[in-house]
Amino acid sequence: MRSFAGMASPCHIDLPVRVRTWQSSTHDKNSRYRAMQTEPVIREYHPDDLPALKRITAFCFEPVSIDRNIEARFGCIGGRDWRWRKLRHIDDDVAGDRARGVFVLQADDQVVGYITTRVDRESRIGGIPNLAILPAYQGRGLGKQLIQTALDYLRAQNMECAKIETLVQNEVGASLYVNMGFEEVARQIHYLMRL
Ligand SMILES: CC(C)(COP(=O)(O)OP(=O)(O)OC[C@H]1O[C@@H](n2cnc3c(N)ncnc32)[C@H](O)[C@@H]1OP(=O)(O)O)[C@@H](O)C(=O)NCCC(=O)NCCS
Repeated sequence: MRSFAGMASPCHIDLPVRVRTWQSSTHDKNSRYRAMQTEPVIREYHPDDLPALKRITAFCFEPVSIDRNIEARFGCIGGRDWRWRKLRHIDDDVAGDRARGVFVLQADDQVVGYITTRVDRESRIGGIPNLAILPAYQGRGLGKQLIQTALDYLRAQNMECAKIETLVQNEVGASLYVNMGFEEVARQIHYLMRL
């Protein structure tokens, strides 16, 4: 089972956030369905949540990140690892007014997931740039609830459509979004070359 301890980066660079090593017992198949001690709640983001959002991102996006794919093929770039690049997106997602459209999933007295949104008042196409839930809390319908919360927010912001992107390698993303009513409109390929 994947754990933080197994996330060695070819860059060997310290993360800008403290990364906790999760106990394997919280990630094995059986513990995934263990009873939660408190009912999960979805609430508005507070700046104090940022370190938790970054820890969740660094862990959950390893198998499903363009930045991670780049590092796997090209190694270290600019002296930074993939997590540094990915976590910059989270800083972007919570910057200024955007923070109002970020929602946090809390369970067992900790932040265990989140979703971010982007409002574009001119195009009236809102976005969902990032979404993640710790593995121990996945598979209980909480991802759907986070997406529903984001869609409600985007509707309240007078958006006409909502856009979300996923990688072909991310099976969960593809089925989840289609099941929730999103329709595929395009496939994009990312290329990279060393200069
Ligand atoms: C995406 C994510 C937030 C979903 O969270 P979740 O709480 O497991 O989602 P839900 O329990 O609401 O499941 C919703 C649907 O996802 C799909 N799904 C869940 N686990 C799946 C799996 N292992 N394989 C394929 N589809 C899966 C199912 O369609 C499920 O619907 P169903 O219960 O009706 O079958 C979570 O998997 C995650 O954090 N993944 C890593 C980060 C990531 O991929 N983020 C999205 C980037 S595009």
